[in-house]
Amino acid sequence: MHIEKLTRFQLAQLPTPIEKLPRLSRELGGPELLIKRDDQTGLAFGGNKTRKLEFLVGDALAQGADTLVTAGAAQSNHCRQTAAAAAKAGLQCELILNGKKPDVPNGNLLLNHLFGAREHWIDRPQRAAKLRELPGQLRAQGRKPYVIGVGGSNGVGATGYVVAMIELMEQLRVSGQRVDHMLFGTSSGGTQAGIELGARITGFNGTVHGLSIDKSEPEHLEYETEVAQIGNECAAYVGSDVRLTRADIKVVYGYMGEGYGVVGDLEREAIRLMARFEGIVLDPVYAGRAFGALVDLIRKGVFKRHETVLFWHTGGSPALFAYANELL
Ligand SMILES: Cc1ncc(COP(=O)(O)O)c(C=O)c1O
Repeated sequence: MHIEKLTRFQLAQLPTPIEKLPRLSRELGGPELLIKRDDQTGLAFGGNKTRKLEFLVGDALAQGADTLVTAGAAQSNHCRQTAAAAAKAGLQCELILNGKKPDVPNGNLLLNHLFGAREHWIDRPQRAAKLRELPGQLRAQGRKPYVIGVGGSNGVGATGYVVAMIELMEQLRVSGQRVDHMLFGTSSGGTQAGIELGARITGFNGTVHGLSIDKSEPEHLEYETEVAQIGNECAAYVGSDVRLTRADIKVVYGYMGEGYGVVGDLEREAIRLMARFEGIVLDPVYAGRAFGALVDLIRKGVFKRHETVLFWHTGGSPALFAYANELL
């Protein structure tokens, strides 16, 4: 492995803490619960994208780029973090966002504006074409764009989560804690790819489960294959011999409710539980839905009482403010 030799632009405050959730464990009558606070990575309200962006921005700077281009949902945390990372690195930022600009651009949209990113609003079916065209248009204006795919989920971005797994294993070694199961929200796959690869590299011997927030069971072969591919791209990037197959990727489906970004009782209860029992904020789209799935699995008795379950909080709290009406 040669992670230390890869170009990396420092954005994150690391290591992020691991905390116990004793009141919540007791309330749920379940296993011991730990939380890895990647909502506290430090860049612009934090989140999992900070870790990916350290390597993506490092690569962009090494290639002489002057602009980051990426795409996402209107309340994309990835876009907000990319806008902040661009500001910190002295790069321009162009964001392609789904749909129409709302009358009140709050949550992540307000932050994109503060970071000086330029937004391009487009209907979701036209997004991929726009992401292909825009870099050429920027080049024609003399700019040097670096394109980051949706969610920053490629081999370069996933490297951030290989590093995160190394960090976690060191924390567990020092504290003497054991983790039997690790769970987190999964969507574009880069976080899971990095964690799965990092788990293999470091010899983590618990189970790793992605909790799908936007896919259903019929899509599982395609998604798990994609995560394994990102993991293998990442292995090549970091110089590891480990190779992942679809069978190595475990994802739990069945929790997408009414669809991506649609808040239901599952998310509302999860957000309330975490807030009232531990004073920790979850967002409704990713971490809230993922934690709601974990609560359901605990209630179904999937974990034994003497086991330890680590929930990896991947951030996303600014989106809360765009969902005030659904959460009250
Ligand atoms: C807060 C949050 N959690 C989890 C995820 C899922 O991570 P990934 O896209 O790497 O699967 C995202 C992706 O946008 C996110 O914003």
